[in-house]
Amino acid sequence: MKTVSLLLSIMLLSVAATSYAAEGDGMQHMHHHGMMDNRISLDLSPEMKQHQLSNMRSHVQAVQSIVGLLSAGDFDKASQVAHTQLGLTDEMRKMCGSFKNEKFNQLGLAFHQSGDELGNVLQSKDMKKSLQALHDTMTYCVECHATFRQ
Ligand code: HEC
Repeated sequence: MKTVSLLLSIMLLSVAATSYAAEGDGMQHMHHHGMMDNRISLDLSPEMKQHQLSNMRSHVQAVQSIVGLLSAGDFDKASQVAHTQLGLTDEMRKMCGSFKNEKFNQLGLAFHQSGDELGNVLQSKDMKKSLQALHDTMTYCVECHATFRQ
């Protein structure tokens, strides 16, 4: 009986040692490849997470629509998509003011203002200016994603 429990202890110890070593390797791996996520967490509830992600999927869809409409020369429709989907609508103003992180709220508002600005520039039907404005709006996507996570 004693031998059995001794054997068991040795087995358990070696399992523990192996997983410890594996974890160590993993951390080092992440460190070397710069995979540590240092972004600020928004600490959202599960419901808010789903709501935010669904909003985000609409944002990427809006950008896809705008690029397609631009290539077809339909500036009016592109402008409409920019104002309604990326602009500072009442819904977006409410949503972006509701986070605990003030910097995030400000970035969200500035982003949606740039969406309205994009809508205005699209009205000029100037392709070069329109692409520049779309680029400016997308700079907010990139900046926010680099800074924050759910
Ligand atoms: C003010 C901040 C902010 C701005 C601006 C922003 N996002 Fe996001 N987005 C987030 C956060 C936070 C997440 C969650 C990321 C995480 O937790 O890793 C996210 C996630 C996403 C996702 C993932 C959706 C999913 O279902 O997994 C997509 C796609 C996305 N954003 C697209 C966009 C696009 C396109 C724009 C610009 C047109 C944009 N976002 C602008 C904050 C922002």
